[in-house]
Amino acid sequence: MGSYPTLQLAALRFGKGLQCFMGQVKKMGALGLLAMDVPEEYKGAGLDYLAYSIAVEEISRGCASTGVIMSVNNSLYLGPILKFGSEEQKHQWIAPFTSGDKIGCFALSEPGNGSDAGAASTVARLDGSEWVLNGTKAWITNAWDASAVVVFATTDKSQKHKGISAFLVPMPTAGLSLGKKEDKLGIRASSTANLIFEDCRIPKANLLGQQGMGFKIAMQTLDSGRIGIASQALGIAQGALDCAVDYAEKRLAFGSPISKLQAIQFKLADMALALESARLLTWRAAMLKDNGKPYTKAIQILGGMGYVTEMPAERHYRDARITEIYEGTSEIQRLVIAGQLLKEYRG
Ligand code: CAA
Repeated sequence: MGSYPTLQLAALRFGKGLQCFMGQVKKMGALGLLAMDVPEEYKGAGLDYLAYSIAVEEISRGCASTGVIMSVNNSLYLGPILKFGSEEQKHQWIAPFTSGDKIGCFALSEPGNGSDAGAASTVARLDGSEWVLNGTKAWITNAWDASAVVVFATTDKSQKHKGISAFLVPMPTAGLSLGKKEDKLGIRASSTANLIFEDCRIPKANLLGQQGMGFKIAMQTLDSGRIGIASQALGIAQGALDCAVDYAEKRLAFGSPISKLQAIQFKLADMALALESARLLTWRAAMLKDNGKPYTKAIQILGGMGYVTEMPAERHYRDARITEIYEGTSEIQRLVIAGQLLKEYRG
């Protein structure tokens, strides 16, 4: 694993070379960035979530698309397998996804179900020794590049969220097809597409955790995933601040750089302050997680990077918008914070 400056350099390099994108994924694998909190026995880097948060930020500072590819593989794909997988599943579904040869994805949202994650209509039916999956999953990050997916489907719709289970599906596999690559506003170098399951058969052993546990697996996975997305937002904001400072130092007006103007200095100071506050909050969430303490409330800062909208750097602006949407919209984050807060006050 590289030191912090090494990561900064890596991020700058990543930022430049979007053409050979999967090559960058390989490089991240070689640096240990794709499985950061995975123990070494499963070929991970054996680090913690604080290290992960710093790394996602630095990578996203150079390229937010690379940041989300990394975040989804670490948090949303490997995370639930590490936490809920059997020993056999961990060896089969984690180790090959640590080096950058393969990456994974996570399929929860559906065309008719985003924030209301418990209303899954993708179904899984047991047929002898196989699960048969039918339905469509939407907005799946890494979809076109992934070699496996953790997918959520209901085995009993009448039980609502308690009928949902999680499954491990190899990609490609018969009965699973990809939708078109979405033409997105930002993070354009990461692939986003629908996954369409049509009588897709997987072995019975590919159930992750117990039957009916899927919603809890999804929620706990997103708790961790949101640390990754908050870190991605930090990286985008830091990249925007880097750009603003550089421009302010070089752009001349009235005979000197505009960075000498108090109005510009106030803007830069406010941005740096907002960024540092958000960073401390994100790191606090990561450290709480690392210490086995509750952290759901502390991480809900996505979208707090509102000042980015004032930046002239249009790529950062476009990339930042998604952090207010995926892994729970900002409105959903407020619901989660309120829920936790009321629970704490009620005791
Ligand atoms: N950890 C563990 N369990 C949890 C939990 C958590 N964080 N949150 C809820 N639960 C449990 C509850 O305890 C409850 O359990 P019981 O039934 O045993 O009592 C159960 O789950 C249902 O809880 P709620 O009634 O609170 O659930 P809800 O239906 O009201 O939904 C929600 C809560 C917060 C709105 C949730 O649906 C949610 O987070 N929605 C947003 C989904 C989301 O983030 N989607 C993003 C998709 S992934 C993505 O974007 C990836 C990408 O591209 C990068």
